[in-house]
Amino acid sequence: MADLEAALSVALQGAKGPGALVPVLQRLQGELGYLPGPALEEVARRLGIPPARVFGVATFYSQFSLKPKGKHLVRVCLGTACHVRGAPQILAELSRQLEVGEDGLSRDGLVSLEEVRCLGACALGPVVVVDGEYWGRMTPAKVTQLVRALRERGKGEA
Ligand code: FES
Repeated sequence: MADLEAALSVALQGAKGPGALVPVLQRLQGELGYLPGPALEEVARRLGIPPARVFGVATFYSQFSLKPKGKHLVRVCLGTACHVRGAPQILAELSRQLEVGEDGLSRDGLVSLEEVRCLGACALGPVVVVDGEYWGRMTPAKVTQLVRALRERGKGEA
Protein backbone atom coordinates (compact mmCIF):
# COMPACT_ATOMS: atom_id res chain seq x y z
CA MET A 1 0.00 0.00 0.00
CA ALA A 2 1.25 3.44 -0.90
CA ASP A 3 2.11 5.88 1.87
CA LEU A 4 -1.00 7.81 2.96
CA GLU A 5 0.47 11.30 2.59
CA ALA A 6 1.94 10.50 -0.84
CA ALA A 7 -1.40 9.03 -1.96
CA LEU A 8 -3.28 12.10 -0.71
CA SER A 9 -1.03 14.48 -2.58
CA VAL A 10 -1.46 12.51 -5.83
CA ALA A 11 -5.24 12.29 -5.37
CA LEU A 12 -5.70 15.94 -4.40
CA GLN A 13 -3.37 17.45 -6.97
CA GLY A 14 -5.16 20.41 -8.58
CA ALA A 15 -8.45 19.49 -6.88
CA LYS A 16 -10.63 22.24 -5.45
CA GLY A 17 -14.05 22.26 -3.83
CA PRO A 18 -16.87 19.74 -3.58
CA GLY A 19 -17.06 19.09 -7.35
CA ALA A 20 -13.66 17.39 -7.21
CA LEU A 21 -14.73 14.81 -4.64
CA VAL A 22 -15.53 11.77 -6.82
CA PRO A 23 -12.39 12.00 -9.01
CA VAL A 24 -10.29 12.55 -5.86
CA LEU A 25 -11.75 9.42 -4.27
CA GLN A 26 -11.15 7.44 -7.48
CA ARG A 27 -7.49 8.50 -7.58
CA LEU A 28 -7.07 7.86 -3.87
CA GLN A 29 -8.48 4.35 -4.17
CA GLY A 30 -6.22 3.79 -7.17
CA GLU A 31 -3.24 4.67 -4.97
CA LEU A 32 -4.24 2.84 -1.78
CA GLY A 33 -6.44 0.01 -3.08
CA TYR A 34 -9.26 1.18 -0.79
CA LEU A 35 -10.42 4.25 1.16
CA PRO A 36 -9.34 4.18 4.81
CA GLY A 37 -11.28 6.37 7.27
CA PRO A 38 -8.37 8.71 8.14
CA ALA A 39 -7.78 9.36 4.42
CA LEU A 40 -11.45 10.32 3.95
CA GLU A 41 -11.27 12.72 6.90
CA GLU A 42 -8.21 14.33 5.38
CA VAL A 43 -9.92 14.67 1.98
CA ALA A 44 -12.87 16.37 3.71
CA ARG A 45 -10.56 18.79 5.52
CA ARG A 46 -8.49 19.69 2.46
CA LEU A 47 -11.48 20.09 0.11
CA GLY A 48 -13.48 21.98 2.75
CA ILE A 49 -16.37 19.49 2.67
CA PRO A 50 -18.14 18.08 5.77
CA PRO A 51 -16.72 14.59 6.58
CA ALA A 52 -20.25 13.12 6.64
CA ARG A 53 -20.68 14.11 2.98
CA VAL A 54 -17.35 12.51 2.00
CA PHE A 55 -18.25 9.29 3.83
CA GLY A 56 -21.72 9.42 2.28
CA VAL A 57 -20.29 9.55 -1.26
CA ALA A 58 -17.68 6.86 -0.50
CA THR A 59 -20.35 4.45 0.77
CA PHE A 60 -22.97 5.31 -1.89
CA TYR A 61 -20.98 4.27 -4.96
CA SER A 62 -20.22 0.55 -5.27
CA GLN A 63 -16.92 1.34 -7.03
CA PHE A 64 -15.53 2.50 -3.69
CA SER A 65 -14.42 0.23 -0.88
CA LEU A 66 -13.80 1.31 2.70
CA LYS A 67 -12.15 -1.99 3.51
CA PRO A 68 -8.93 -3.45 2.13
CA LYS A 69 -9.48 -5.76 -0.83
CA GLY A 70 -7.55 -8.86 -1.81
CA LYS A 71 -5.98 -9.22 -5.26
CA HIS A 72 -8.65 -11.80 -6.07
CA LEU A 73 -12.38 -11.67 -5.43
CA VAL A 74 -14.07 -14.96 -4.52
CA ARG A 75 -17.86 -14.82 -4.32
CA VAL A 76 -19.84 -17.71 -2.88
CA CYS A 77 -23.49 -18.02 -3.80
CA LEU A 78 -25.78 -18.60 -0.84
CA GLY A 79 -29.00 -18.39 -2.86
CA THR A 80 -31.63 -21.06 -2.20
CA ALA A 81 -30.58 -23.52 -4.93
CA CYS A 82 -26.93 -23.36 -3.91
CA HIS A 83 -27.79 -23.38 -0.21
CA VAL A 84 -29.68 -26.68 -0.39
CA ARG A 85 -26.77 -28.23 -2.29
CA GLY A 86 -24.25 -27.41 0.42
CA ALA A 87 -23.09 -23.81 -0.21
CA PRO A 88 -22.69 -23.06 3.54
CA GLN A 89 -20.15 -25.91 3.82
CA ILE A 90 -18.32 -24.59 0.75
CA LEU A 91 -18.18 -21.11 2.29
CA ALA A 92 -16.95 -22.51 5.62
CA GLU A 93 -14.28 -24.58 3.87
CA LEU A 94 -13.08 -21.61 1.81
CA SER A 95 -12.94 -19.45 4.94
CA ARG A 96 -11.00 -22.11 6.78
CA GLN A 97 -8.49 -22.86 4.03
CA LEU A 98 -7.94 -19.19 3.15
CA GLU A 99 -7.91 -18.12 6.83
CA VAL A 100 -10.41 -15.35 6.22
CA GLY A 101 -10.89 -12.79 8.98
CA GLU A 102 -13.98 -10.79 9.96
CA ASP A 103 -13.09 -8.17 7.34
CA GLY A 104 -13.57 -10.81 4.61
CA LEU A 105 -9.88 -10.76 3.73
CA SER A 106 -7.59 -13.80 3.72
CA ARG A 107 -4.71 -13.68 6.17
CA ASP A 108 -2.17 -13.30 3.34
CA GLY A 109 -4.21 -10.44 1.81
CA LEU A 110 -4.55 -12.37 -1.46
CA VAL A 111 -8.31 -12.96 -1.45
CA SER A 112 -11.51 -11.11 -0.59
CA LEU A 113 -14.32 -13.54 0.18
CA GLU A 114 -17.91 -12.39 -0.30
CA GLU A 115 -21.33 -13.97 0.01
CA VAL A 116 -23.87 -13.29 -2.72
CA ARG A 117 -27.49 -14.26 -3.43
CA CYS A 118 -27.97 -16.12 -6.73
CA LEU A 119 -25.49 -15.68 -9.53
CA GLY A 120 -27.96 -16.87 -12.16
CA ALA A 121 -26.32 -20.30 -12.56
CA CYS A 122 -28.50 -22.31 -10.15
CA ALA A 123 -28.20 -25.55 -12.15
CA LEU A 124 -24.46 -25.50 -11.44
CA GLY A 125 -24.88 -25.07 -7.67
CA PRO A 126 -23.16 -24.73 -5.39
CA VAL A 127 -21.46 -21.98 -7.38
CA VAL A 128 -18.34 -19.97 -6.60
CA VAL A 129 -17.12 -17.14 -8.84
CA VAL A 130 -13.43 -16.29 -8.85
CA ASP A 131 -12.60 -12.96 -10.54
CA GLY A 132 -15.58 -13.53 -12.85
CA GLU A 133 -14.76 -17.20 -13.58
CA TYR A 134 -17.51 -19.66 -12.58
CA TRP A 135 -16.68 -22.78 -10.59
CA GLY A 136 -19.79 -25.00 -10.51
CA ARG A 137 -20.86 -28.07 -8.50
CA MET A 138 -18.38 -27.19 -5.80
CA THR A 139 -17.24 -29.80 -3.30
CA PRO A 140 -14.75 -29.52 -0.43
CA ALA A 141 -12.19 -31.27 -2.68
CA LYS A 142 -12.74 -28.63 -5.39
CA VAL A 143 -12.28 -25.93 -2.74
CA THR A 144 -8.80 -27.32 -2.04
CA GLN A 145 -8.09 -27.25 -5.79
CA LEU A 146 -9.36 -23.67 -6.03
CA VAL A 147 -7.31 -22.44 -3.06
CA ARG A 148 -4.22 -24.08 -4.54
CA ALA A 149 -4.86 -22.36 -7.90
CA LEU A 150 -5.28 -18.98 -6.17
CA ARG A 151 -2.03 -19.38 -4.24
CA GLU A 152 -0.22 -20.36 -7.45
CA ARG A 153 -1.56 -17.20 -9.13
CA GLY A 154 -0.48 -15.22 -6.09
CA LYS A 155 3.09 -16.50 -6.44
CA GLY A 156 3.13 -15.55 -10.12
CA GLU A 157 2.08 -11.99 -9.21
CA ALA A 158 4.50 -11.55 -6.30
S1 FES B 1 -28.90 -19.85 -6.15
FE1 FES B 1 -26.78 -19.95 -6.57
S2 FES B 1 -26.67 -19.44 -8.66
FE2 FES B 1 -28.76 -19.28 -8.20
